[in-house]
Amino acid sequence: MKAFAFCIIYLCCVLHSNGKDVHNTSRVASQYPDRIAKSQQGKPSFHFRPPHNWMNDPNGPVYYKGFYHLFYQYNPYGSVFNRTIVWGHSVSSDLTSWIHLNNALVPTEPFDINGCWSGSITILPGNKPVILYTGVDTNNQQVQNLATPRNVSDPFLKEWVKYSGNPLTTPPKGVNPDNFRDPSTAWKGKDGSWRMVIGGLRNNQGVAILYRSKDFIHWILHDDPLHFGVETGVWECPDFYPVSVNSTSGLDNSAYEENQKYVVKASFLSHDYYVIGNYDSNNEKFVPEGKGLTGSSSNLRYDYGKFYASKTFFDVAKNRRILWGWITESDSATDDIKKGWAGIQSIPRQVYLSNNGRQLVQWPVEETEKLRGNHVTYSNKKLKRKSLFEVRGITASQVDIQISFNMPKMEDVEVLEPTWDDPQTLCNTKLARVSGRAGPFGLLVMASQDLTEQTAVFFQVFKESNKFVVLMCSDQSRSSLRQGVDKTIYGAFIHMDYEDKMISLRSLVDHSVVESFGADGRACITARVYPQFHERIEAHIYVFNNGSRDIVINTLDAWSVKTGRGAVTD
Ligand code: FRU
Repeated sequence: MKAFAFCIIYLCCVLHSNGKDVHNTSRVASQYPDRIAKSQQGKPSFHFRPPHNWMNDPNGPVYYKGFYHLFYQYNPYGSVFNRTIVWGHSVSSDLTSWIHLNNALVPTEPFDINGCWSGSITILPGNKPVILYTGVDTNNQQVQNLATPRNVSDPFLKEWVKYSGNPLTTPPKGVNPDNFRDPSTAWKGKDGSWRMVIGGLRNNQGVAILYRSKDFIHWILHDDPLHFGVETGVWECPDFYPVSVNSTSGLDNSAYEENQKYVVKASFLSHDYYVIGNYDSNNEKFVPEGKGLTGSSSNLRYDYGKFYASKTFFDVAKNRRILWGWITESDSATDDIKKGWAGIQSIPRQVYLSNNGRQLVQWPVEETEKLRGNHVTYSNKKLKRKSLFEVRGITASQVDIQISFNMPKMEDVEVLEPTWDDPQTLCNTKLARVSGRAGPFGLLVMASQDLTEQTAVFFQVFKESNKFVVLMCSDQSRSSLRQGVDKTIYGAFIHMDYEDKMISLRSLVDHSVVESFGADGRACITARVYPQFHERIEAHIYVFNNGSRDIVINTLDAWSVKTGRGAVTD
């Protein structure tokens, strides 16, 4: 009977990708007759988004006087991208309930009249926040500008004053005026001078262009970029920060401790790639461990699904580094117009170096757990080969679920063929419906009662030189019976350590968002899904094992998630 259910579940696989131009430049009116009816479809309840309209990159996240601030690229006039974009602004005391404030920066001056594009905040000595942002000027060239709060004693930092001497920097030689943007948070070198990087394309190389300044006003170009990559295209939203070795605590951007490494992140070719290395501010040199960022898919990624233009900040209140990333829609621009909103932010994630120092680990900030409601739990539960069971008693369309599976025996595991080097490609053949040896096993989320619509997030365990390599997939191919929505399948490899006896999967399901963390956050995959069924009433969630061996669920905990206050004020 259960095997039959599997056949039905996976009868056919519609693979359809709809690569949307996320920066569609058409301007739209702000009123849509059917907005009310459509606006609820797939609307996330605990992921951050403004009440209406288009949002893209997170900008200038910071903690200041008791509040977390999140600025973001925002189109106040509609739910598609608009080049003359502004900085939206929201504040929160706990990263889950948000107050939406007036826009912080809007195009008004010759140095930003065609758009207030992405940037960052740096806290200067004396607890003084400053914004560095890209303005698109009267000649449509990208320049870097500065703004300061009108009133530093206002914890909401409601009003910002643009510096009269803007712009601070204009595109240097070899940099096209279209490809010079997104200043990073600045850091102090050991010599006391400030540094920042700006994303760009110089002589056909993606670059993190390095500048130095003694006073934060006059910036001098350093000849060599901090880091660069060939065949990457333009680098957007570069980020550069220290991470602590052997600790999950974060470090201030200007920290110099004995045990620290550095991360360079750049957004290009639709993904956020990073590399870990060492940095010496005296010689102005970042030396990557390994080969540095390239145009190939072998770079490490924050997220192997939808996640772009991200930014981190050091949270002084809790001594941690937090990462925000933009999650695009994957329905059509026409749908976005009908919905009246488009674009969300990921769950804020704490980010730190893994025990072996070779990669970053990400985990939803602990505040996310405040939203947990109804709870169901299982432990030590056998999941027979080719079987599945439904997790009941929670709201399946708004759920935080965490499962820990016992690792299989080495002799029960298939060998990873040397040619299987691209996890995304492998996930396209090793689908949830294709039975393997150790797996696939995992979750079916946002599933309709008859399972004709479902998103599978799962593992399949392989071995390579007598070590486990786990393939993690998020299979959207059956996520919706609708045409015209992106159903790309995503994949990542997780290289297990000898001492790993279990592998965990945590998924935050929020209507159209499935944000998943594999192996305690060593691999993250975020997907958007738009099932046709009326998910607010009918969504179901299952745990499945389609391998030829039984597996054991060590623990399973699932919580209904409450709606984050303020994130959905409309
Ligand atoms: C990244 C990006 C940035 C730019 C902003 C404009 O998504 O293209 O490079 O500053 O969006 O909204």
